[in-house]
Amino acid sequence: MSTRIVMKLRVAESVATTPEVVRLTFVHPQRPELPAWEAGAHVDLRLPDGRTRQYSLCGDPADRSRYVLAIKREDAGRGGSLWTHANLTPGAVAHVSHPRNNFGLAPGARRHILIGGGIGVTPLAAMARSLAARGADYTLHLCARSAGQAPLLAELQALCGDRLRCWFSADGPRFDPAILGAPEDGVHLYACGPQRLTDAVQATLGRAGWPAERVHVEHFAPIDDADFKPEPFDALIASTGEVVHVPADTSLLEVLRRRGFAMPSSCEIGVCGSCECGYRDGTVIHRDVVLPLVRRQDRMMPCVSRARVNVTLEL
Ligand code: FES
Repeated sequence: MSTRIVMKLRVAESVATTPEVVRLTFVHPQRPELPAWEAGAHVDLRLPDGRTRQYSLCGDPADRSRYVLAIKREDAGRGGSLWTHANLTPGAVAHVSHPRNNFGLAPGARRHILIGGGIGVTPLAAMARSLAARGADYTLHLCARSAGQAPLLAELQALCGDRLRCWFSADGPRFDPAILGAPEDGVHLYACGPQRLTDAVQATLGRAGWPAERVHVEHFAPIDDADFKPEPFDALIASTGEVVHVPADTSLLEVLRRRGFAMPSSCEIGVCGSCECGYRDGTVIHRDVVLPLVRRQDRMMPCVSRARVNVTLEL
């Protein structure tokens, strides 16, 4: 379930950019312009069974006539990309939400370092287009196994020129975040890609003294915590004084819905940020990958996050 507005868009073009990645262009069948967005934003693509998948917009934010997505076929995934590759051919109609941005460029930054691993380069491609258009200082590190498996490579080469640095592990060294060295004033870093890459970036830069608020990471996979054992807890609703019990096998989001709260949601796996709500007076076990550390003191994602014993919700 989602409160985000969903549009029916037509697939105008479908181009394979690697053997596994298709670049899809969507337009509105009647309107010349789509809702505005900024680099780093994603949309929800709704599947026939009602579930959604989140994909970053990788086109030019200044071009309101189209949305462009690059989608990798994940043979061992949850099925969304396989359906997309098989069905979203030119002329097909897809249900696409208005964009949402959890991964925007930092305003006022002096320089931007973009690090994309594989299909994780998609939000960074939009960032590079924005930064290039405004003449900003940036470098894009593109990590892939080989040139043939690097999504959007030709267009990024044309766009970025010598601001693009490619790291193809089949041909040479892997990207090592240690090359970024110590933090410099006004420099922000953005990373998106496989968890081993984003974990290495965060750990290495943390050791090098980079402030967490200048290292921005986007995830599209849920947290990997198979050993987590959910416990029951109680949630007090601040506005009404009502207490709701959350059993171990049910999410807080689900319990709130059953009690009549109109909670927005989209991914329901802690990656999109749609269900965010406020809390106080409790210890929350954050299990999402979207909420920045600096906001975890009083905000949570009830689709996956839980509390120890009890919590008060700002609802
Ligand atoms: S619904 Fe996506 S983070 Fe909760």
